[in-house]
Amino acid sequence: MTLSTTPFDSTKHLDVAADLLADRHRHDRVRDPRLPATFDEAALCRGQIEQALTTAGAYGVVISDGSEAVGFGIMTPQFIEPTHMLAAFFPPRGVSLGYSTHATKDGMEYDVYREMYGALAEHFVDRGIFHHSVAVPAMNGAAVDAFNSLGFGRNMACAVRGVDPVDRHAAPIEVHQASAEDYPAVESLGEELTLHHARSPIFNPYVRESDEAHHTFIKGLLEDADANAHWIGYEDGKAVGMNTFMQPFFLSPMTVPEKTIYLFLGVVTQDARQGGIGSAILSQGVSWAREKGYENIALHFATANLSGAKFWQSSGFQPIEYGMRRTIDDRIAWANK
Ligand SMILES: CC(C)(COP(=O)(O)OP(=O)(O)OC[C@H]1O[C@@H](n2cnc3c(N)ncnc32)[C@H](O)[C@@H]1OP(=O)(O)O)[C@@H](O)C(=O)NCCC(=O)NCCS
Repeated sequence: MTLSTTPFDSTKHLDVAADLLADRHRHDRVRDPRLPATFDEAALCRGQIEQALTTAGAYGVVISDGSEAVGFGIMTPQFIEPTHMLAAFFPPRGVSLGYSTHATKDGMEYDVYREMYGALAEHFVDRGIFHHSVAVPAMNGAAVDAFNSLGFGRNMACAVRGVDPVDRHAAPIEVHQASAEDYPAVESLGEELTLHHARSPIFNPYVRESDEAHHTFIKGLLEDADANAHWIGYEDGKAVGMNTFMQPFFLSPMTVPEKTIYLFLGVVTQDARQGGIGSAILSQGVSWAREKGYENIALHFATANLSGAKFWQSSGFQPIEYGMRRTIDDRIAWANK
């Protein structure tokens, strides 16, 4: 195998990239049948690639073995303002290889991803972007292995479960759907969750400048209680936990099964954990989702979240996508000169 690298040219490479992505997806679906079949079609994959190319600063490459294209990857810069409601979760200056903007020929993952990232990383490090991320199908072990070998570590999981009842001990507490007047309780539980993410071993910095955007977002959700639902658990009249359901958010369309609702915020106050309150609230949320006609629930968790990662997985959520990150030593910008 002799691999060569060419910059991605949308006038030449869109069709071959769409074919490679559809082929990757068909193989991913054999490993994980929950993935949506619609993206077996190259035409739909092409739309995802075209959309990524509209991002300012996007840069991609095509990898060939002789005359055959065997992989492509397009990275897009992400510049997140401190006022962004999810500022805690993203570095302010980063670049991302999205779930639907990379593929290799099946069986060539290790060599082709290594070659591809070598070219992409050179381009972005030259531009002073040192925080790199990639999203990969959770069951695609060869892709995960290739990025591990390049210094990437897992930091996020997107996980999905069906709407079958939650089969575990649940505390006998009252669980009610919040309305607009419950905003203070919703906001306070949301803050508890963000503070949890700031603690060890997650260490997501709670950037207070993001508060206003977060408040506005939550108020918007509460205004449409039919589409979104905040389920709040009460013990002795005190709000002790919450699950927030909303339309799919921050999910790649290539990972979202039909009829999916998104579980955005899930938290129980620190002193009330481990007694079945989280399970009681989740149980109510799952019943609501089932009654609404949803068939799947998706969520994200930080893989370093000790309580969250354990709770969701033991409640039936199985990872469908992993987010992986690599941070490059920024002294490279001035050293060696
Ligand atoms: C994740 C979280 C919501 C779970 O809430 P919780 O009230 O602790 O959940 P439960 O008590 O129902 O279940 C937690 C564990 O306690 C166990 N448990 C519950 N009642 C129990 C009892 N009476 N006796 C023994 N064990 C019990 C459960 O089996 C479960 O065990 P597991 O995690 O090993 O499967 C809570 O830990 C939390 O808020 N964590 C911080 C915020 C967070 O991580 N949120 C998720 C963000 S992605």
